[in-house]
Amino acid sequence: MKLGTPLSDTAVRVMLLGSGELGKEVAIELQRLGVEVIAVDRYPNAPAMQVAHRSHVIPMTDPQVLNGVILAEAPHIIVPEIEAIATEVLADIEAAGLAVVIPTARAVQLTMNREGIRRLAAEELGLPTSPYAFAGSAEELAAGAETVGYPAFVKPVMSSSGKGQSFVESPDEIADAWTYAQDSGRVAGARVIVEGRIDFDFEITLLTVRSRAADGSTRTDFCAPIGHRQIKGDYVESWQPQAMTPAALAASQDIAGKVTEALGGLGVFGVELFVKGDQVWFSEVSPRPHDTGLVTLASQTMSEFALHARAILGLPVDVTLREPAASAVIYGGMEAQGIAFEGVAEALAVPTADLRLFGKPEAYERRRMGVATARGADVDQARERAREAAGCVKVVRG
Ligand SMILES: Nc1ncnc2c1ncn2[C@@H]1O[C@H](COP(=O)(O)OP(=O)(O)OP(=O)(O)O)[C@@H](O)[C@H]1O
Ligand SMILES: [Mg+2]
Repeated sequence: MKLGTPLSDTAVRVMLLGSGELGKEVAIELQRLGVEVIAVDRYPNAPAMQVAHRSHVIPMTDPQVLNGVILAEAPHIIVPEIEAIATEVLADIEAAGLAVVIPTARAVQLTMNREGIRRLAAEELGLPTSPYAFAGSAEELAAGAETVGYPAFVKPVMSSSGKGQSFVESPDEIADAWTYAQDSGRVAGARVIVEGRIDFDFEITLLTVRSRAADGSTRTDFCAPIGHRQIKGDYVESWQPQAMTPAALAASQDIAGKVTEALGGLGVFGVELFVKGDQVWFSEVSPRPHDTGLVTLASQTMSEFALHARAILGLPVDVTLREPAASAVIYGGMEAQGIAFEGVAEALAVPTADLRLFGKPEAYERRRMGVATARGADVDQARERAREAAGCVKVVRG
């Protein structure tokens, strides 16, 4: 692919569907290569819109509206950043050869639904996963929980960031878990997955990059494993590298290689895995940069966003880890519009610390508004510094 001049006939145009903090970093990397960036989201002034050439505010779940924007902008490449998109439109656009969907329309469709990706991973590829069952009613859920065993996690098949998820320890909790999943899932009457709990030592994200090799074939590279801590399905802290046994690392790369190969296309994938000793279970995969991968802004020669930008343009990538580093999330902690950040100078005075303040127009209690990163002689020191820096930053009313 030739890279042209933005806003001219030679431009390479990339459309981001979803314009959050991860898309913002991808947009910045694309801008650096002179790519014309069009940011789309359902609300104005979303983070990536603030660094794009143009933006559109549309309901991305509305097929007609989404199709209209894609046809009007005629992007060469479409980069879905979130799951709540009318993906059937992407399949049609791809089939008509109008744009390349990253990584592929099928991968986007399979991974937006826990049932699609779980059946692919466990039943087609034979990868180890937690025991699971799907249910379309409270009765089916109760039966499913009996087969997978307690304790278990109940999750809407269409949801992310812990929305609608419950941890159930006995049959008494099934009715509430069903109702909660229905209330907070993306669509009403939705199916749920019930998964037996894996008693893991730690969980990782294995960033896996599919890029074009010099001979035109597709190659797969693995970043160093990222460890992270989750609260209610939302990451609060991540670090790289996560120490693990050589056998567990090999098993992780084997699983990630197989699942990304099956999904196909080019770009970064965030493969979520549970690890206990030498044993590894596949959990889920994002066909895009992963939130826990924000740490790579500090730890790697190329961040996951730079890797994604390069890979989707068919350019070579470098997944080298430079230094141990960590990230710590800064939450809104309140509901307000046009918030301000205090303590930025104090945060940046922490050795090696850096910040990303996302510029989201509206804060709420558990909304991620920024992130602190830091490096260190080892992961422990990096984590301490990142937490300290994040702790210095206070969200206040403007
Ligand atoms: N079967 C399981 N056993 C143990 N822990 C689990 C299990 N399923 C989920 N968890 C815990 O809950 C977290 C969130 O689950 P999961 O990643 O499936 O959903 P999600 O985070 O809402 O999805 P997304 O990553 O797309 O936002 C996991 O990172 C893990 O800490
Ligand atoms: Mg997850």
